[in-house]
Amino acid sequence: MKKQVVVYKRLPQPELARLAGWFDLTRFDSIDEHNRGAFLAAIQWAHGLIGASVKLTNEMLSCADRLEAISTISVGYDNFDVRFLTERGIVLTNTPGVLTESVADAIFALMLAVARRVVELAEFVKAGRWKGSIGPSLYGVDVHSKTIGIIGMGRIGLAVARRACLGFNMPVLYYNRHRNAQAESLFEARKCGLDEVLAGADFVCVILPLTPETERFIGEREFNLMKPEAFFINGSRGKIVDEGALVRALQSRRIRGAGLDVFEKEPLSAESPLLTMPNVVALPHLGSATHETRLAMIRCAVENLIAVLNGGSSENTVNPEALDRRHSGGSGAKGASDKVCD
Ligand code: DGY
Repeated sequence: MKKQVVVYKRLPQPELARLAGWFDLTRFDSIDEHNRGAFLAAIQWAHGLIGASVKLTNEMLSCADRLEAISTISVGYDNFDVRFLTERGIVLTNTPGVLTESVADAIFALMLAVARRVVELAEFVKAGRWKGSIGPSLYGVDVHSKTIGIIGMGRIGLAVARRACLGFNMPVLYYNRHRNAQAESLFEARKCGLDEVLAGADFVCVILPLTPETERFIGEREFNLMKPEAFFINGSRGKIVDEGALVRALQSRRIRGAGLDVFEKEPLSAESPLLTMPNVVALPHLGSATHETRLAMIRCAVENLIAVLNGGSSENTVNPEALDRRHSGGSGAKGASDKVCD
């Protein structure tokens, strides 16, 4: 008998067909208040889940007794409690690698947009306000040759450092738990303490995964250390930043501007004070959102799920310990103490 898989995102037909060759599928294009009950019921019978952008809480998974694998179509896995999954022998896979270059492009787009006032001045032209050669009140500032400070030198940090060093002649400072020898040898990046990066950079780019340790990693203290002419760029996760402190830093001109692809709460409320500031470029979490990259992410996630549910392994496994757990007898969410769906 085929294993049961719940798909909780709209997938292209060829990828659905590939999954259907192996598994019985229950499909949800997205999850909302109308189909949430059906989704929760389907999870109870599933051996595998594949999708994105839904927070799957321990409570929701507490009755998924058969669940063996979850394949998230994202590099970030902050929608899951990894420890909970591991304890229950549920393997979690993600899609690193395939989105690195697109996210690095998006981070550079934010830097250029906010420093050169691209969005603000495009609106100015559209509004018919361009009447002559623009003067200093509408000038931006250069990106090339300025210092970039990268907080989090993983794959994406490295791709940003490459653009900065080779394309824009920017000195690169970085803060990371471990040394990144490639960044240092190829892009002359200099590893510094957090405070030195904050104080020395003209563009402070946060590229960290969201974990309990990185939640609100950047707050009042950190903004106070930045140069008043510096820009803050966040292309990772909104919750890494204390958004109230960011708003205050921008309002008081403690920093010059911000380029933001992610927010504490998404979608960003139309009432957010960030949207009233001309020195803020706000994007709708589009880092990996290109046709090519989203397709590559889906294909990667499909491969991951097929491998794990067929008893193999995926190099994109977030919690390899879950497999040991499974082999030593743990299975699905059995034994969960906080079941809510009986
Ligand atoms: C990711 O893959 O984590 C991106 O942020 C898209 O959600």
